[in-house]
Amino acid sequence: MNRLTGKVAIVTGGSSGIGEYTVREMVNEGASVVIADINDELGNTLAKELTNDETKVVYHHVDVTNEDHVAAVVKRAVDEFGKLDIMFCNAGIGSMGKSHELSMEDWNRTISINLDGVFLSAKHAIRAMKENGGGGSIINTASILGHVGQASTAAYNAAKGGVVNLTRGLAVEYAKNNIRVNSVCPGYIDTPMLNQVDDAMKKHLISLHPLGRLGKPEEIAKAVVFLASDDASFITGENLMVDGGYTAQ
Ligand SMILES: NC(=O)c1ccc[n+]([C@@H]2O[C@H](COP(=O)([O-])OP(=O)(O)OC[C@H]3O[C@@H](n4cnc5c(N)ncnc54)[C@H](O)[C@@H]3O)[C@@H](O)[C@H]2O)c1
Repeated sequence: MNRLTGKVAIVTGGSSGIGEYTVREMVNEGASVVIADINDELGNTLAKELTNDETKVVYHHVDVTNEDHVAAVVKRAVDEFGKLDIMFCNAGIGSMGKSHELSMEDWNRTISINLDGVFLSAKHAIRAMKENGGGGSIINTASILGHVGQASTAAYNAAKGGVVNLTRGLAVEYAKNNIRVNSVCPGYIDTPMLNQVDDAMKKHLISLHPLGRLGKPEEIAKAVVFLASDDASFITGENLMVDGGYTAQ
C-alpha cells in the first residue's frame, strides 16, 4: 500500500537535490505533487518525466521570498488537485563567509530564503489546510547547523536555528487543527549545494559524520515521506536528525 495515495503535496526547492528526490519519493508513494522553484528548466523537465497515466506532477515558478508567489502556488495546488495535504518547505541556499566581513545584503538574502521562505510557505499552507478542515502535514528543511555552530556560516546558522524553533511553535499552534509540523535536519548531503566545496573540504566533511560518508538526497526524502505519512500521526514539533551521527558526538 502506498503511503501517500490520494495526498496532494507542494515541494519548494523541488527542482534539485533533496527537493527533487522528495518529489520522486512522494510520487512513488502515490501523491500528486506541485514542484515550486525558481529553476524553471529543471522543474519543468522533472514534472514532465514524472507525469503519466496514473500520476500528475506540475511545476510552478515560485520565489519563496515573494508572498504573492507562495500564495499563488498554494492556490494552484487547490485548483489543480482540490486540496493541499503536505507542504515541504525546503528551498534554501548555502552561505559562507567570515562573520565580521558578512554584508547585510548577504545576511538578509540567507535569512530571507532560508527562514522567511519557510515561514511564508507554512503560513499559506496552513490557511489552505484549515479551510479544507482535514488537517495536514508540514515538513521544513532545517539542518544540523540549526542545532550546532560552525565557523563562517553565521547567517545560515541563524536561519536554520530559526526554522528549528519555528517548527515547534507552529506545531503547538496548529495541533488543534490536526496540522502536524516537523522538520528534517540533514547532515552534509551530496547535492548540487555542495558543488562549491573542493575535494579536500569534502573529505573533511565526510570525516565529521560517524557513518563515514555524506548523506544521499534520497535518504532525506525517505524521512520526509515518513513525516508526511500517517506512520508519523503522533509526531509533531519534532526536528528529526538525518545526519549519519554528526550531532551525536
Ligand atoms: N546539501 C546539504 O548538505 C544540506 C544540509 C543541510 C540542509 N540542507 C538544506 O536542504 C535544502 C535543499 O538543499 P539541497 O542540498 O537540495 O540544494 P540544491 O541547491 O540542490 O536545491 C535547492 C533548491 O532550492 C531552489 N531555490 C533556491 N532559492 C529559491 C527561492 N528563493 N525560491 C524557490 N526555490 C529556491 C533552487 O533552485 C534549488 O532547486 C536547503 O534548505 C538546504 O539549506 C542541505
